[in-house]
Amino acid sequence: MKIIPKYLSKRDSHELFMGAIVPRPIAFVSTVGEDGIFNLAPFSCYTSLCLKPALVGLQFGWKRSGEKKDTLRNIEFFKDFVVNVVDETMAQAMNQASANYPSDVDEFKEVGLTPLKSDLVKAPRVAESPINMECKLVQIMEFGNAPTGSRFVIGEVVLIHIKDELWLNDHIIISKLKAIGRLGEELYCGIKDIFEMKAPEGL
Ligand SMILES: Cc1cc2nc3c(=O)[nH]c(=O)nc-3n(C[C@H](O)[C@H](O)[C@H](O)COP(=O)(O)O)c2cc1C
Repeated sequence: MKIIPKYLSKRDSHELFMGAIVPRPIAFVSTVGEDGIFNLAPFSCYTSLCLKPALVGLQFGWKRSGEKKDTLRNIEFFKDFVVNVVDETMAQAMNQASANYPSDVDEFKEVGLTPLKSDLVKAPRVAESPINMECKLVQIMEFGNAPTGSRFVIGEVVLIHIKDELWLNDHIIISKLKAIGRLGEELYCGIKDIFEMKAPEGL
């Protein structure tokens, strides 16, 4: 099978790339809006971009209506956000938060999660999440327009909160973290089969 992406519909492109780029980490992003309403939504087109400065990147599509997603609007307004890691205990709440709630709905309340005040940014963090990364907006890159284009948000991680029980000898204990990942369709994965491979000599 060979596929030339530029001839695919948006929907088919989505299915293809979300099936091919797997597993993806899930950034559960908390923000606050101009009106003070807290917002929460998951974004799996998410990655680490640089260590010093500590940068992460998030991709935003559009609402079905063609409007900006609330998370992006809030980031543009207050210029900050928090990336919360999603573990197995939070899977249902994360999925529920991806529903298209109106902007004036507090999604923490809707999905039963607890907002905590952040130290360095206005956006709240999620108490139940094992790791919270407080981020300040650095840049928004624009690729095309609605409904097919996207926006890529780059943020600097200015503070990380990690639950003490997950931290040992300057490492996160991956086997205890129980983070989940996103696959294609409506599929997710847990971290079950962890294996080690020593890096080749000379690295
Ligand atoms: C696991 C998961 C990953 C998602 N990843 C993305 C993504 O990378 N980019 C995106 O635009 N939407 C993504 N979505 C959809 C958004 O979460 C959804 O559009 C949400 O309603 C946006 O909320 P907001 O308008 O409050 O920002 C994802 C949904 C789920 C369930």
